[in-house]
Amino acid sequence: MSVNSKSIYHTKNLDHDYFEKQIVHPYESTKQFFKFLNKYKPLKNKKIIDLACGSGANLFYLKKNFDLKQCWGFDQNSYLIKTAKKFTKKKNIKSLSFKRQDIEDLNFRKNKDLRPDGVISIQTLSILNDYEKVIKFAKNLKPNFICVNSLFWQGDIDFKIAVNFLKKNNRKTVKINHYNIYSIKHYIKFLKKFGYKKISIKKFKTKKKLQTKNKNLMGSYSINLDGSSAIKSGPIILDWYFVLASK
Ligand SMILES: C[S@@+](CC[C@H](N)C(=O)[O-])C[C@H]1O[C@@H](n2cnc3c(N)ncnc32)[C@H](O)[C@@H]1O
Repeated sequence: MSVNSKSIYHTKNLDHDYFEKQIVHPYESTKQFFKFLNKYKPLKNKKIIDLACGSGANLFYLKKNFDLKQCWGFDQNSYLIKTAKKFTKKKNIKSLSFKRQDIEDLNFRKNKDLRPDGVISIQTLSILNDYEKVIKFAKNLKPNFICVNSLFWQGDIDFKIAVNFLKKNNRKTVKINHYNIYSIKHYIKFLKKFGYKKISIKKFKTKKKLQTKNKNLMGSYSINLDGSSAIKSGPIILDWYFVLASK
């Protein structure tokens, strides 16, 4: 599995603060995401796979607050998987395991014990080139539902936004990330093709005032937009949506 050495998700470029802080202080969006999911798919006794689980923070929150049967986390980054495994051991969390895995690898063959009720992916589809491979990967795991938190747009437009972090003194790209925003209508159509026909959607809103140190860098902060609160990062308005698709 080769990760672009300039990607902000390559081990040498990782924002450790982002991944480690949320283990102790889960994001408001994480709490609302699971509240939303639990409303439609009661999580008690469920088996869940988290695609691109990072340091496992979302699964730790999930295991602590809902009575799940079994959870698995997949991520391509071995450092983050190690961090997740260490915390699981330290806190003696049962029925939770992590695996280094490329979630765009369609040759993945699941072992017969991996039988999830649901697959989740949080704040990840937008940082990939596209969502199609991950959704195919997810449906190959044969879950009853697939629930994501990602950036979406109501119109028939996909925005492929590459963020190139440049050197101070010349235009050389030192790090890269994506903030893709997908047409929600077309995303849903894609899921329906695989039999995920029941759809529930919620746009993430928070009363919390998000702040960032330097608005010229990337980092979420609250703004007032058309009379209501919105989230911005650099020049981009972040419309996070929770989208649940089930059979
Ligand atoms: C924005 S972070 C989100 C992490 C976590 N879901 C969260 O909410 O904190 C994106 C994650 O996607 C992982 N990732 C990127 N491409 C991947 C791939 N092809 N396969 C597996 N993980 C991938 C990165 O290592 C990183 O942990």
